Amino acid sequence: MTDISKPPFKNILITGAAGALGSVLRESLRPYAEQLTLSDRAPLGEVRANERHFVCDLADRNAVFDMMKGVDMVIHLGGAPRENTFQVILDSNIAGSYHIYEAARQESVKRVIYASSVHAIGFYECTQTIDANVPQRPDSLYGVSKTFVENLSRYYFDKFGLESMCVRIGSCFPKPVDRRMLATWLSYDDFSHLCIQALMTPSVGHMIVYGNSNNSANFWDNTQAGYLGYHPKDSADAYRAEVYANTPIGDPRHPAVRFQGGQFAADGHFEDDPNNR
Ligand code: NAI
Repeated sequence: MTDISKPPFKNILITGAAGALGSVLRESLRPYAEQLTLSDRAPLGEVRANERHFVCDLADRNAVFDMMKGVDMVIHLGGAPRENTFQVILDSNIAGSYHIYEAARQESVKRVIYASSVHAIGFYECTQTIDANVPQRPDSLYGVSKTFVENLSRYYFDKFGLESMCVRIGSCFPKPVDRRMLATWLSYDDFSHLCIQALMTPSVGHMIVYGNSNNSANFWDNTQAGYLGYHPKDSADAYRAEVYANTPIGDPRHPAVRFQGGQFAADGHFEDDPNNR
């Protein structure tokens, strides 16, 4: 981890702060900001020493503009974290992210670190190694919303100079629990390290990087992450025997096994009758 003697940032906003990854960063980013602004529509618990809380929906434009006041860095995690109805994706992920970017521009925020996803490129095959410059191939409406924000962030950088780092997170959970995650797993510690490097690197312009740990199985050429000094310490390899023992070998022709997006690539449209998807 980077050494710091005093907080390098005034005010870091974390959206989705009540969620799984937000709760991780609420702890690990504490030394990095004089104040953490935490936002979620779910309760955020007790207000701790250097925190301010905003319980609101990202679809509420005025609320997002309020929470952005005085913020210098944003970690944008809030939104639907998996496939949902188009209306939910539209309100939470698309409109919500637009509000974040527009408020960040108006408040002269330096940088947004955005939780994109493997599902932005989920239709590449697991046998392919791809870098951050391949065309997007979303595997779901959720994935489409991630590609939207990757492009929104590029527009805000090219036109207004608002920096962004979009992290295509693989599977960020306590441990890998299926065979696909042996390639896509990102440990909580490595996620924190990646976000800290994303904050501390003097200039990132507009970047897309992949978020996975140091796994032997790997779909991604993450050369761009080298620039950030991201050196993951954990590996899904430590769980390989456990995963093999607990999960069957899948049919390589099945879309959930064939494509990097896994089950998201195999599922039908979310709003169809589940029996006919
Ligand atoms: P999570 O579901 O635990 O956290 C998401 C948070 O966003 C929740 O606390 C929820 O209340 C909040 N939220 C949802 N819609 C909202 C809205 N309209 N307004 C305000 N708050 C809203 O999910 P997790 O795992 O912490 O994911 C965080 C981000 O990382 C998400 O954007 C997700 O898409 C992304 N991501 C996560 C991955 C993972 O493996 N955990 C993989 C790829 C991307």
